[in-house]
Amino acid sequence: MSAHYDVLIVNGDVVDGTGSARFTADVAILGERIAHIGDLSQATADKVIDASGLIVCPGFIDAHTHDDRLMLSDGDMAPKVSQGITTVIGGNCGISLAPMPREIPDPVTPPLNLLDEKGGWFRFRNFAQYVSELSDRPAATNCAMLVGHSTLRVATMDDLTRAATDSEIAAMQELVVEAMEAGAIGVSTGLVYPPAVAAPTQEVIDVCAPLARYGGIYCTHMRDEGDQVIESLEESFRIGRQVGVPVVISHHKVVGVQNHGRSAETLAYIADHMTRQPICLDCYPYDASSTILSAKLVANSTRVTVTWSKGMPQMAGLDLTEIASRLNVSTEEAIEKLLPAGAIYYRMDDADVQRILQFDDTMIGSDGLPHDEKPHPRLWGSFPRVLGHYSRGLGLFSLEKALHKMTGLTAGKFGLTDRGIIRQGAFADVTLFDAQTVNEAATFAQPVAAAIGISTVLVNGKVVWEDGKPSGQRPGRVLRREGTPAQVTQ
Ligand code: ZN
Ligand code: CU
Repeated sequence: MSAHYDVLIVNGDVVDGTGSARFTADVAILGERIAHIGDLSQATADKVIDASGLIVCPGFIDAHTHDDRLMLSDGDMAPKVSQGITTVIGGNCGISLAPMPREIPDPVTPPLNLLDEKGGWFRFRNFAQYVSELSDRPAATNCAMLVGHSTLRVATMDDLTRAATDSEIAAMQELVVEAMEAGAIGVSTGLVYPPAVAAPTQEVIDVCAPLARYGGIYCTHMRDEGDQVIESLEESFRIGRQVGVPVVISHHKVVGVQNHGRSAETLAYIADHMTRQPICLDCYPYDASSTILSAKLVANSTRVTVTWSKGMPQMAGLDLTEIASRLNVSTEEAIEKLLPAGAIYYRMDDADVQRILQFDDTMIGSDGLPHDEKPHPRLWGSFPRVLGHYSRGLGLFSLEKALHKMTGLTAGKFGLTDRGIIRQGAFADVTLFDAQTVNEAATFAQPVAAAIGISTVLVNGKVVWEDGKPSGQRPGRVLRREGTPAQVTQ
């Protein structure tokens, strides 16, 4: 056929995101959607991309991010588009930038300070204002946003060390309703973190109650990922059952040397419950975690590296033991001097990481922290590391299966219609990469580096990454669950 298209991607090996085997085909894009797939050698286009020797697949969906502010403060989204990501799920771990109906305390309550340590970005008095700004000043990637339970607590409570009262719960519910109407996809919790530890299970159930009526989802950084991991899974599933919504176990892992190997037990427990209620999980492909610096987390880690510090900014990038010895103080005293601060914690076992990655319903999420001085390399490297190290290198699973965990599986679980798939009529979120060379370039020592082997990335039909740099185009949309764009009433 001799049709004319906006973009033609020719001679690539298409992996459609469903897990099916690759096939050679041309892909034509008209406007923001895929118009045709097949032999298009007679067609013409404004832009022709030669994909000979490359994989052409759906753009990756980052199932777990903290990009709430990055989309507005650095909308090119280089850490994301450079690794082939075209959609991010934001507002995870109980931490969302919106809504903050009153002045946020100064200094910003940890871990909300992972998004903005100064507080100026917590300026969206309701969720609609945030969605409206994301729609008016789009980022390079699409996003689907959660409302954070810790954010809601900070927004409505003056004392975070106790359970919420009935009136505080009512206030949080109202904020959840407003957010869902404005386009949020659900609620996240971070029950391990100081602002939420005092929240009993029932409080979470009550705050999340409006979700069922909006078809929302519940994502949780559980209360405990160590000794009490099974009890925490049980709590998470109970919340999902009582609220009547799907549960996403965020960055599933088992921490602490004494718990290494227990992923066999947790995955069996998850698989058993999946037969009775909707559950899925995400995972980042590293055996070290990263969040705010806290003595509690230092306790079960074999090594700790500081990623940023307000108290002693010059220490970013150094190990905690090194800092303590330079200051000639105990690690406890060093922590005090560094706070507020962020850290990387070595406390998982790679065998567990591999077992979790291999689990059929595990999606890939980066959990990257874009505002850290010396970030965990997962921010720039998660997706290419799964493709290069775990799939090609270790042969944990096929390339097709790896890509399904980054695209079709994730779109299905989050209800992002016409995303995560290469199909006629689907949105043209497309990533082109070299299967032989794709890999992370970011390391713990040099964490800021664009991935190897990702050649071109398109979002809604527009090129966002090409020739090793962002194109400057910002075609991202705010996605609702079920895929319809968020309607903003201003
Ligand atoms: Zn988390
Ligand atoms: Cu997180």
